[in-house]
Amino acid sequence: MADLKGKTAIITGASKGLGAALARRFVEGGAHVAIAARSKAQLEKQAKEYPDQILPVPCDVTCSDQVKTLIEKTVNQFGQLDILVNNAGIGRFGTVQDLSEEDWDQMMDVNLKGAFLTSKFAIPHLQQTKGHIVNISSVAGTVTFPKGSGYCASKFGLMALSDVLSQELKKDEVKVNTICPGSIQTEFFETAPSYALTAEQVTEAVWHMVTAPEGVIYNQIIMRPQVPPELQK
Ligand SMILES: NC(=O)c1ccc[n+]([C@@H]2O[C@H](COP(=O)([O-])OP(=O)(O)OC[C@H]3O[C@@H](n4cnc5c(N)ncnc54)[C@H](OP(=O)(O)O)[C@@H]3O)[C@@H](O)[C@H]2O)c1
Repeated sequence: MADLKGKTAIITGASKGLGAALARRFVEGGAHVAIAARSKAQLEKQAKEYPDQILPVPCDVTCSDQVKTLIEKTVNQFGQLDILVNNAGIGRFGTVQDLSEEDWDQMMDVNLKGAFLTSKFAIPHLQQTKGHIVNISSVAGTVTFPKGSGYCASKFGLMALSDVLSQELKKDEVKVNTICPGSIQTEFFETAPSYALTAEQVTEAVWHMVTAPEGVIYNQIIMRPQVPPELQK
């Protein structure tokens, strides 16, 4: 069975939600994992469970100095970098006339610029290991909806960044994987629909991407919860 023994991953936005579930799955699969987010206490709590395998690194992905330090600390600690998961993300929703400029800027900074910065500084290491960049996009990166201007634009932007990265890194055999989930049961929404995907279901799809057989790249996965017929619009 595939595993991640001997591999090192960085997962951003890993203080809770999908990022925390991914970290758990990767660690259980044998990887060393640097978990990054702004909430130091939450990162340290997770690291206590797997002190030999998890490195907690407080990091705001919008700050290039902090991102540089994240990559350096990870490589210093574990010797290499095989997988970068760009998972940190925020969602602010409202019509264009109601959405604040600050919310727009924050979504662009975290969801899009954050992935640019981490990729930029991780690429030299990923070229050495022929590793993976996994971008956590969203169904909102493939279709738009009212009140989603900033979120959809940031995730459509992330899709474009993924596409460019996959073309630029093809020659180095660095695999670029993008996953576009529908609603997930995390704290991202105040109330997620009852039928929303679990973080573990999304994690399992990411697991398949990063453990794909030699010679196979899962470029993109779009996954949605199956909505019970009585709740369909
Ligand atoms: N939940 C959904 O329905 C859904 C659906 C499709 C896609 N997604 C995507 O899945 C990803 C994970 O979302 P989630 O549902 O797990 O949300 P979540 O539970 O709200 O977690 C978001 C994570 O991002 C981190 N984060 C936010 N701003 C950050 C920053 N500036 N620097 C570093 N980390 C930052 C948060 O940690 P700190 O606050 O500690 O920094 C937290 O760990 C996001 O990219 C989201 O867009 C979510």
